[in-house]
Amino acid sequence: MSEKAELHYNGQVFEVPVVKGTEDELALDISKLRAQTGLITLDPGFKNTGSTQSAITFLDGEKGILRYRGFPIEQLAEKSTFLEVAYLIIYGELPIGEELKRWREDIAHHTLIHEDFKVILEGFPSNSHPMGVLSSLVTSLTAFYPESIDPTHSSPEMYKSIVRLMAKLPTLAAWAYKNEIGQPIIYPKNNLDYCSNFLRMMFSTPAEEYDIDPVVSNALNKLLILHAEHEQNCSTSTVRIVGSSHASLYASVSSGINALWGPLHGGANQAVIEMLENIKADGGDADKYLAKAKDKNDSFRLMGFGHRVYKNFDPRARIIKKAADEVLSKLGVNDPVLGIAQKLEEAALKDEYFVERKLYPNVDFYSGIIYRALGIPTNMFTVMFALGRLPGWVAQWKEMRTNSEPIGRPRQVYTGYNERDYVDVSKR
Ligand code: ACO
Repeated sequence: MSEKAELHYNGQVFEVPVVKGTEDELALDISKLRAQTGLITLDPGFKNTGSTQSAITFLDGEKGILRYRGFPIEQLAEKSTFLEVAYLIIYGELPIGEELKRWREDIAHHTLIHEDFKVILEGFPSNSHPMGVLSSLVTSLTAFYPESIDPTHSSPEMYKSIVRLMAKLPTLAAWAYKNEIGQPIIYPKNNLDYCSNFLRMMFSTPAEEYDIDPVVSNALNKLLILHAEHEQNCSTSTVRIVGSSHASLYASVSSGINALWGPLHGGANQAVIEMLENIKADGGDADKYLAKAKDKNDSFRLMGFGHRVYKNFDPRARIIKKAADEVLSKLGVNDPVLGIAQKLEEAALKDEYFVERKLYPNVDFYSGIIYRALGIPTNMFTVMFALGRLPGWVAQWKEMRTNSEPIGRPRQVYTGYNERDYVDVSKR
């Protein structure tokens, strides 16, 4: 028999069904509560609200667990490739044999962008932030592939729309960067793997071919895997809610890119490096900034610390810290900004304020550090995050459509004026 909770209200008892997930997480199903009691629930920021039942990612913020389709993130980051993980997240199983070959080849085959796209790209001022450019270009894909606007979720068109997006996002991202720095775009080279192809489009010029370092492309592969999916975060919830109106995959993902842009979400890795640079310019005193972060009259926050769900440690941060140490030592990087990061991290981990509030370095504290060491410019950091998160957005959008979920429409508690009569302002 399924469990129920009781709600006592206005002298009556209402039964609320309890839903149990496969990892024994419990939830009250309040979908009929308003019809039965006239009550809604109030939860600003949806911090304690499950918006869906999903089979993609399990995470336990207290225990520091993250699994994609049941596989621990630690194993995937160590043994797998980003394209394998993307397939796993989107289609539910690791691709084997022919499946993997086809997936890789299909993605390699679709990396080119329609030449007319260049006209759109050239329309942006050359110093535009690449996130704004990227989200606009992703929406523009619907104009070139109108069949993507309303594909049936199981149809071959759906597969093609997904492949196109996976294939073209790195090209669009590299082109957005080239536009920003005023260099000619570099076309993809399809005999390269996903990460190497992207790095070459970023760093080659017509005058000089970029020398792909396997340390760099392996580190990028790991970073993309770590960012690939993270259940109902701000940008993923955005993708789901936009898609719930039956907006297309490209329109929904473009909205996700915009949601990711903010410094409290994907913009945090850029904010981390900017913060470290400011501290360096101000004399490099980590303690001064630690004190500012603790001062309630100061709006300064230590970027890269704290997480909405991980309250003991971020499992991705552990993997990435190790990767950051490896990359820095293999590439022989000696950067004073990284020294400040180390000092801040050590001091904050011992500080009562941070310990009490369970504020630990999150994945973005270290991802910014690695991207900087790899030579990726600061305002491309969030774009890198978007490249990684793409499979998660696609999988969540696809799951929502496959399960025929209803349109997202939260309610509110109104706190404005009661009814009042119009006054003709010209007579006042
Ligand atoms: N620096 C200083 N104090 C902080 C920080 C921080 N980075 N983060 C939280 N706090 C404090 C808050 O002031 C609050 O203190 P109080 O209880 O005395 O009022 C307490 O810790 C709880 O903070 P909330 O904002 O309620 O925590 P929440 O879980 O809602 O926020 C968030 C999480 C937004 C990530 C927050 O920790 C933050 O702003 N961090 C910096 C930005 C950042 O790194 N974002 C990246 C997140 S990871 C990602 O998106 C992939």
